[in-house]
Amino acid sequence: MGRIGLSSARLVLFAGLLAASLVPSCAAAEIKTSTTEWSFRLLLPNGVTGAESLAFDARGQGPYTGVSDGRVLKWGGSAVGWTTFAHHASYRKIPLCTVPVVPSEETESLCGRPLGLAFHHKSGDLYIADAYKGLMRVGPDGREAEVLATGADGVPFNFVNGIDVDQATGDVYFTDSSVTYPRRFNTEIMMNADATGRLLKYNATTKQVTVLEDGLPYPNGVAVSHDRTYVVVAHTVPCQAHRYYLRGPKAGHYELLADLPGYPDNVRRDGKGGYWVALNQEKGRPNTTMAPVKHLVGVRLDANGMEVEELTAAKGVTLSEVTERNGTKWLGSVELDYIGLVS
Ligand SMILES: *[C@@H]1O[C@H](CO)[C@@H](O)[C@H](O)[C@H]1NC(C)=O
Ligand SMILES: *[C@@H]1O[C@H](CO)[C@@H](O)[C@H](O)[C@H]1NC(C)=O
Ligand SMILES: *[C@@H]1O[C@H](CO)[C@@H](O)[C@H](O)[C@H]1NC(C)=O
Repeated sequence: MGRIGLSSARLVLFAGLLAASLVPSCAAAEIKTSTTEWSFRLLLPNGVTGAESLAFDARGQGPYTGVSDGRVLKWGGSAVGWTTFAHHASYRKIPLCTVPVVPSEETESLCGRPLGLAFHHKSGDLYIADAYKGLMRVGPDGREAEVLATGADGVPFNFVNGIDVDQATGDVYFTDSSVTYPRRFNTEIMMNADATGRLLKYNATTKQVTVLEDGLPYPNGVAVSHDRTYVVVAHTVPCQAHRYYLRGPKAGHYELLADLPGYPDNVRRDGKGGYWVALNQEKGRPNTTMAPVKHLVGVRLDANGMEVEELTAAKGVTLSEVTERNGTKWLGSVELDYIGLVS
């Protein structure tokens, strides 16, 4: 633990991931006023980065997070620290995964790269959106995760990313960000305005995966709505959130929920009937090196998609997730080696 300071050279290097000189620009949006300061951070174990998504189990334990070497880790409190919770079968079989000698970008397709995480609280199962291994699930005690699906409609998954579980039915909603480019070439999705992403559903009863929408531009985070009538989907480009109706008169419709002031990653329900959308990068700023001392890293939308709060962080910091718990915001970042907290 410690205060979040201005960052290391590494953060600046990783900022290049989203170098916006290469990215189609999104129209400027008005930005509302409230700001939030970061308070603490939990350092990840040595050698791993990339807490892209965070989850807490039904007992309130965690956070759990997926990291760059293919594992899902569990935080057991300051006395226990981080332990390995789950991984794909390959993780233990391939020595390069457990004893890395090359950058994780070169081994992630072999070792796995867990991005989105979501618990089904009734069963205690953790669903894992692994960018390379597909949709996975592991029981409450963790260890080797079972691969549930690696493709849909005859098209293999290529970049599985965001995930959420409908707690009432156990059905799972997730995204495949592009059928063209894998995660490690994610900037190509933006540079080439790729629109081959998909929104998918795993039916917990039939164990079948259905394509709800295809031909989508960079679908990333997913959140089931508070009333379970729709799922919110963040599109990294073109800086938008959409909603796909699951039930009711609009079932099957896909419509715009909000234009966002930055490039979104994960979406999570907040405690007030709305959603936290984490932003990888603010609009109109080519990269985080050029950001001012504080810059926008997340926004809270109300149920109608209106921006009601914004979150700022120090220069060089980008976010992939904002998860609210008991008034505390837990901040995940695919680029950093820690998880941040904001009270
Ligand atoms: C960000 O912008 C600054 C100023 O133009 C530039 O020096 C730096 O190389 C850029 N970084 C990346 C990662 O593009
Ligand atoms: C949230 O706060 C309530 C009331 O203080 C407490 O009972 C509960 O255990 C807390 N949950 C977590 C996950 O900390
Ligand atoms: C899952 O499949 C069952 C059985 O066919 C069906 O009753 C249920 O509505 C499906 N769930 C969803 C979310 O489509």
